[in-house]
Amino acid sequence: MDGKDFGIYGAQTPVLPQVMELFAEQIEAFHRETFERTGSHVYEHLNFRIKDEESMREKCRRQDLAECPENALRTIHDAIGFRIVCLFREDVDRCVEFLRNLPGCQVETEKDYIRQAKPNGYRSYHMILLFTAPFEDVDGANPGKFYIEIQLRTIAMDAWAALEHEIKYKHDIRNPELIGRELKRCAEELAACDVSMQTLRNLVNKDI
Ligand code: GTP
Ligand code: MG
Repeated sequence: MDGKDFGIYGAQTPVLPQVMELFAEQIEAFHRETFERTGSHVYEHLNFRIKDEESMREKCRRQDLAECPENALRTIHDAIGFRIVCLFREDVDRCVEFLRNLPGCQVETEKDYIRQAKPNGYRSYHMILLFTAPFEDVDGANPGKFYIEIQLRTIAMDAWAALEHEIKYKHDIRNPELIGRELKRCAEELAACDVSMQTLRNLVNKDI
């Protein structure tokens, strides 16, 4: 390993947290401004992370890709990942709209697993953005371009995803069909609750 080789992200290793912080600041500023303007929080919480070395290497191997910075940062798009968790369905749309219009950001892909849930019941809105930031990227450009994956969901969708993830990674499930069916039923009940909660909020707001 020479002096420049920091691992799977190569020379970009120290840059990625800085790009992530810069992007987080923009989302947090939007949160603050929305609260000042409307008195309500556009999201309940925000998480972000750099995909760790071993998970990224494992993802490269799974996709038959060489374990190198180019693949980790160009072929794979979730080295930098954000999750925005909202109280209400409509807040997810507000955050999506904000991200679509963010200066210096290009939307690469959007996947609406809320209106079109995955067959297992998973719901979430996924965006891949190409974010321009004043740091050198893997191609040597500065300002550089950095992929960011964002998952947006309600608290109910987030709870389901966490529970499903926990259950799925138990190795000795004896009755996977039953478990899958029940998980999907839970996802549908939670989705119905999200609709009811949004309706309640609309009702309450109308009275103010
Ligand atoms: P990845 O290779 O995992 O990035 O999947 P993909 O490129 O097909 O993208 P997709 O939009 O399907 O999923 C991206 C991410 O969403 C995953 O890494 C998970 O964090 C989350 N996700 C997608 N499907 C599920 C699911 O069924 N259950 C849970 N718990 N999370 C999911
Ligand atoms: Mg992913």
